[in-house]
Amino acid sequence: MPSFKIAVLKGDGIGPEIVQSALQVLEKVGELFGYSFTFEEGLIGGVAIDQKGDPLPQETLELCLKSDAVLLGAVGGPKWDDLPTHKRPEKGLLGIRKALDLYANLRPAKVYEPLISSSPLKDDIVRGTDFIVVRELTGDVYYGEPRGVFRENGKRVGINTMRYTEDEIRRVVRKSFEIARGREKKLTSVDKSNVLEVSALWREIVQEESKNFPDVEVEHLYVDNCAMQIVRRPSSFDVIVTGNIFGDILSDEAAVITGSLGMLPSASIGDKHALYEPVHGSAPDIAGKGIANPIATILSASMMLRYSFGLTQVADTIEKAVEIALQRGYRTPDIYTEGTKKVGTKEMTEAIISALEDLCESS
Ligand code: NAD
Ligand code: IPM
Ligand code: MN
Repeated sequence: MPSFKIAVLKGDGIGPEIVQSALQVLEKVGELFGYSFTFEEGLIGGVAIDQKGDPLPQETLELCLKSDAVLLGAVGGPKWDDLPTHKRPEKGLLGIRKALDLYANLRPAKVYEPLISSSPLKDDIVRGTDFIVVRELTGDVYYGEPRGVFRENGKRVGINTMRYTEDEIRRVVRKSFEIARGREKKLTSVDKSNVLEVSALWREIVQEESKNFPDVEVEHLYVDNCAMQIVRRPSSFDVIVTGNIFGDILSDEAAVITGSLGMLPSASIGDKHALYEPVHGSAPDIAGKGIANPIATILSASMMLRYSFGLTQVADTIEKAVEIALQRGYRTPDIYTEGTKKVGTKEMTEAIISALEDLCESS
């Protein structure tokens, strides 16, 4: 039986609740399709600070390096909000992304037909939306030096540095062209090249690379305009490629189109390693209440099967099962609309698992 070794980093807040759901789904598809998954847990984020004094303990990093893939929940929360930037839970997440060189973060925003009315946008605008944001994940203002709060003439000054090397831009841009080639062959590159030199370089490299992908149509948008177009004409996008900070912001915006941030999965991919995590955070406002939407994490696990293990059919089946559970009316509170069944994390997970069983029985 093919066997895969998965590092599981549950993290903080709703992290443990939603990762548990994804593990249950993986166990079930393992049973139904004949694969064995072994799960080994590691600490990251706030829980790692509390237990080991470090948001990314060495043993967690080693566990991830020797695993076939990593599944992560979320990190952070009010308990650790007063720590300095370099000691916060979020530093653990940034550290693992950098250490595994996960430079391309794939964030698909796809509208499930039963959820069209969960979006605050008009149905006609939302219908048919299916795009993917490719967010560069290991560079930009997130990692640039110098950074810090310094003294200048007796006053404090905060400094962060937006920085991209040519090679860092080129590899994520290439990856995006390749993804576009396998989809609708349309790439939107997002920058702020009317103001920023980093962005002017970004645009230049997209233009250079487009010569190698003549079958892919390229559009350039400034990030402010793109933020507007995403809510105005979401269904016109196919692949959007952008830097780390713009991608962070645009992907949360995209979540509104799909009904909730609780719906958006992601895959963080490098040339050697990959990590799968929902786009959302630790949602401290609902942690421990049993009402978090597990779908983003379940779909992240599905992306793991697709991208890391090549199990396309199994991944398709999980996505179909999510759709069926939604068609059957199951909704966590974040996607609830009148006339549907409001359920908690556990019931939503069970609804997806029972849809999986039905799908396998009927085939
Ligand atoms: P958040 O994504 O945690 O929450 C934003 C809003 O969305 C909240 O109202 C929350 O309840 C809701 N939400 C998020 N996920 C949900 C789900 N699965 N089901 C239902 N509702 C959901 O963002 P925030 O509140 O700005 O940040 C909270 C903490 O999470 C911070 O410490 C932040 O740094 C951290 N964070 C971590 C990650 C990550 O680990 N990848 C991502 C974003 C934020
Ligand atoms: C995300 C989060 C992280 C980011 C934070 C928690 C470091 O917002 O994964 O989108 O900004 O990358
Ligand atoms: Mn974010």
